[in-house]
Amino acid sequence: MLDDIQALKEKIQNFTITNEDDLEAFRLEFLSRNGQIQAMFSRMSEVPNEKKAEVGRAMNGVKNLAQNTFDESKKRLKRKEAASQKATDDITLPAPPYSPGSFHPLTQTLEEMKQIFYRLGFSIADGPEIEDDFHNFTALNFPPNHPARDEQDTFFIRKSDDPKVQDLVLRTHTSPVQIRLMEEKEPPIRAIMPGRVYRNEAVSPKSYFLFHQVEALYIDTDVSVAELKETLINFAKLMFGTDVKYRLRPGFFPFTEPSLEMDIWWEANGEGKWLEILGSGMVDPNVLKAANVDPEKYTGFAWGMGVERIALLRHDIDDIRIFYENDVRFLEQFT
Ligand code: DAH
Repeated sequence: MLDDIQALKEKIQNFTITNEDDLEAFRLEFLSRNGQIQAMFSRMSEVPNEKKAEVGRAMNGVKNLAQNTFDESKKRLKRKEAASQKATDDITLPAPPYSPGSFHPLTQTLEEMKQIFYRLGFSIADGPEIEDDFHNFTALNFPPNHPARDEQDTFFIRKSDDPKVQDLVLRTHTSPVQIRLMEEKEPPIRAIMPGRVYRNEAVSPKSYFLFHQVEALYIDTDVSVAELKETLINFAKLMFGTDVKYRLRPGFFPFTEPSLEMDIWWEANGEGKWLEILGSGMVDPNVLKAANVDPEKYTGFAWGMGVERIALLRHDIDDIRIFYENDVRFLEQFT
């Protein structure tokens, strides 16, 4: 019996496995249910009791040898296959197409605006998009019956009949951040406040229910309209180039006196028109008072710019809605 086991062991050791077919032949010959290992174990009943332990050990040794040979050969064949595949990879082929993505054109425009105002000495601040009535309207000198306080123009988050509870709105402009800045900090203040604003407006090529503004506030002991004009003109030249065609004209806002608006000349396909990009003015003394700033001591200017408007001008786009469609054919043009 032990001789038979030794013979089987040698047979296993001499079996050469060089491919998948050999491996399968090996499995059938030794390891399958009708294979020689199983046959060997079934002869255990022939072994006299006093020899069973010794023979059992020998049988298990052969069984393990067969199993290990099979496992090792299988791994070796796999490695060989992988290696031969690698050898056929052509590293001189062009790489597959790769799309790195890019910043949204509005983000790019906003980034450029921030850079310009940073160079002009402004810091950056922000405020909440859900505002209370006081910061969005009252402190900015809006009269109680102003149309902006109507649901037709403003998204209300909470409308209250109780005079002690404030209405909450999605801010309709970034101007409330001016109030928050003045409440927080004693002048001098020289900051821009970029952010999203919301208006309850019908969607059209010219208007969308959300857009972006860059607010600014400059408060000090001796701020003049001349400085405001100079700053705005500097901005226009840095943003659109020194040959930009601009105009400043009088405007009206409850929170500034006097007020100015700035237009930029826009030309496309042989046609031209003025496009308004911002409202601005000298901060009304009532606004300073509402934010606990002494109007006897301080003056200041402010503005609110439309980021979408500036992006439209920079890229000759005539429909604001395209910024919000996330169409890759549009976005890919800004990589
Ligand atoms: N808040 C105004 C708007 O949304 C824009 C504006 C005008 C902001 C004049 C200002 C300003 O700070 O001084 O239309």
